[in-house]
Amino acid sequence: MKKVLWIIICIFLVGCQNKAPLSVKENFKIVVASDLHYFAKENYEECEWFEEYMLYGDGKMVTYADEILDAFAQRMEEIQPDLILLTGDLSYNGEKNSHEQLAEKLKQMEKNGTQVAVIDGNHDIDNMFAKGYGKDDYIDLEYISGKDFLNIYKDLGYDLAVSQDKNSLSYRIDLNEQYSLLILDTARHEMTGSILNSSGRLTENTYAWTENELKNIQKENRVPLIAMHHNLAIHNSNNYANYTINENEKIAALFKEYNVPLVLSGHIHLQSIKQIDEIFDVVTTSLLDNPLQYGLIEISKDSITYDNESLNISVNSADYFDTVTYNRFEENVNYKEDEKKKVLEMLVLANRHYFAGTMDEVKDEILASEGYQIIKNDESAHYWKYLQTMLENDQEQNHLKISIEK
Ligand SMILES: [Fe+2]
Repeated sequence: MKKVLWIIICIFLVGCQNKAPLSVKENFKIVVASDLHYFAKENYEECEWFEEYMLYGDGKMVTYADEILDAFAQRMEEIQPDLILLTGDLSYNGEKNSHEQLAEKLKQMEKNGTQVAVIDGNHDIDNMFAKGYGKDDYIDLEYISGKDFLNIYKDLGYDLAVSQDKNSLSYRIDLNEQYSLLILDTARHEMTGSILNSSGRLTENTYAWTENELKNIQKENRVPLIAMHHNLAIHNSNNYANYTINENEKIAALFKEYNVPLVLSGHIHLQSIKQIDEIFDVVTTSLLDNPLQYGLIEISKDSITYDNESLNISVNSADYFDTVTYNRFEENVNYKEDEKKKVLEMLVLANRHYFAGTMDEVKDEILASEGYQIIKNDESAHYWKYLQTMLENDQEQNHLKISIEK
């Protein structure tokens, strides 16, 4: 009896650990999208001012999320990627109904051989700021725990795991015979004072699990890729503290030791490619931010390429983003009216291209603009420093090719 039981346990363990890779294809296609911040419509549709309120937000088109996701799903049907990867902040603020409805939409995308894999971000779990916007007041909404997350998304990545960290939501997928993907849970889900801590880290246990998986991947002669919500590299020299993962240099050194060529991250809602320790950290901006873009990754025997594609919906997303930037910047630009107009025009253009990763297209125009000349003579101006960090990002942020040696 004991022997039979032992055989059953062994079969179970082997079954768990020796899952076949996702695909037998040498060329594998991933679509990566980030920061969907899906907010179930019933959480705000009674509120008359929510749409207007969003025009003073951070630019994400929350009230157009259904239309954006429909356009995304349609495009996925055409592309038929092997994997759609979502690098965290799936929900607006961790509401249970937002997670559940998004999960249903994602399940619909799993057809024609496409699989979906998700990880959480800082907004998704144990978020006590999960609130709806009612007719007269906020409405308390149910938010989810880590356990709920695993349950809601059990068929959206965790079903593909060849290994899963016991101490976090991290897991590993083998994409094909050559590549493995470690999807790391970097969010903290805890309060610092009255604010939800938005910084990222690997706990000691998850760091050890990651190191062990990297060792296994190396032993199996595979190439490890990483996906996580927080950034590995610094993407804005003036504002990175809560965006770049804590102890990023230590983590980059670990990744380098095991020849990780590429990290895919999100969180900062910026399209940006930076290197640390020769590792490329590619941040895909929020799918809800102009120009509603995602990354298309092709991995093959000897290279990995990354390119952006964007979606069209019934409204102009660039105009929407410009309106939000104008609304947010206006009160801090203090010049007489005609000068103010020129400075704001320049800042709005810079901000739109900065977030889309296309600063290289307009940098010369910005430097030559009247608005830039006005602010240049006033380097203590509110947005001067920020403008400099935007202009620093004048390299190609929408395309990358990495050679893989085997
Ligand atoms: Fe986000």
